[in-house]
Amino acid sequence: MSGFAACDLRDAGHVVVFTGAGVSAESGIPTFRDALTGLWARYDPAALATAEAFERDPALVWGWYEWRRAKVLSAAPNAAHQAIAELAQRVPKLTVVTQNVDDLHERAGSQDVLHLHGSLHASRCFDCAQPHELPLLVPEHPEAGQRIEPPLCRHCHGMVRPGVVWFGESLPELAWERALEAARSCDLLLSVGTSGLVQPAAEIPRIALRHGAQVVHINLQPEPVNGIREYTLAGRAAQVLPTLLAQVSGQ
Ligand code: APR
Repeated sequence: MSGFAACDLRDAGHVVVFTGAGVSAESGIPTFRDALTGLWARYDPAALATAEAFERDPALVWGWYEWRRAKVLSAAPNAAHQAIAELAQRVPKLTVVTQNVDDLHERAGSQDVLHLHGSLHASRCFDCAQPHELPLLVPEHPEAGQRIEPPLCRHCHGMVRPGVVWFGESLPELAWERALEAARSCDLLLSVGTSGLVQPAAEIPRIALRHGAQVVHINLQPEPVNGIREYTLAGRAAQVLPTLLAQVSGQ
């Protein structure tokens, strides 16, 4: 971590916080690539997160997303989400760009979060794309691996699908454009809890670096960093971010 100091964060005019599943791990939400536990262990998440999988077996895919939505509904933001929300009060401008489909950033108080991969809470009709409001109570905590028939659209009776971006689908245009703009114009980008495997989202930290920002990777294990202005902070997000915030606040 030599080189990066909290004063860089304190003096930054525009900070981007780019998050992946690791920021929600300490809220009890399994990360995308953790070996899926229980009945999901036999499935490859990437094979479930596709339109083809949904068309082939809608009840299986819908059941998986309802299992994840139930986990999110019963989870609470952790200290990392809270520190990110708090940091927005400490710097002139802060943009949160997330790959996560949960709403834990919003529930911690972050505003105007850019969701590059959609949201579990934004279901829509697979056929006519009409939004479909879901009950805030998932059928009693579906078991991992439980198949659940998707609801039908109230307008065209097509199947309702999760409001997430599946492999092979394009990212929401406005969120992507705004994320690119933030990456190009920020002074410092914190990349928190992401494996950086999935394009094009994984480009965001690299774009910030190319445009002259400092980039700090916060992950359980040190990230390989090259070149100047790139740093790694190894540790749990719920521990590292509050520590950074305390340093920025001069505590
Ligand atoms: N603190 C910090 N980092 C953590 C923590 C933690 N407590 N727990 C796990 N991590 C790190 C892991 O080391 C890993 O690098 O979080 C990362 C999670 O990686 P993935 O599971 O690949 O999740 P993510 O990077 O968000 O995946 C990106 O892939 O499949 C798509 O749409 C899916 O949005 C997802 C995207």
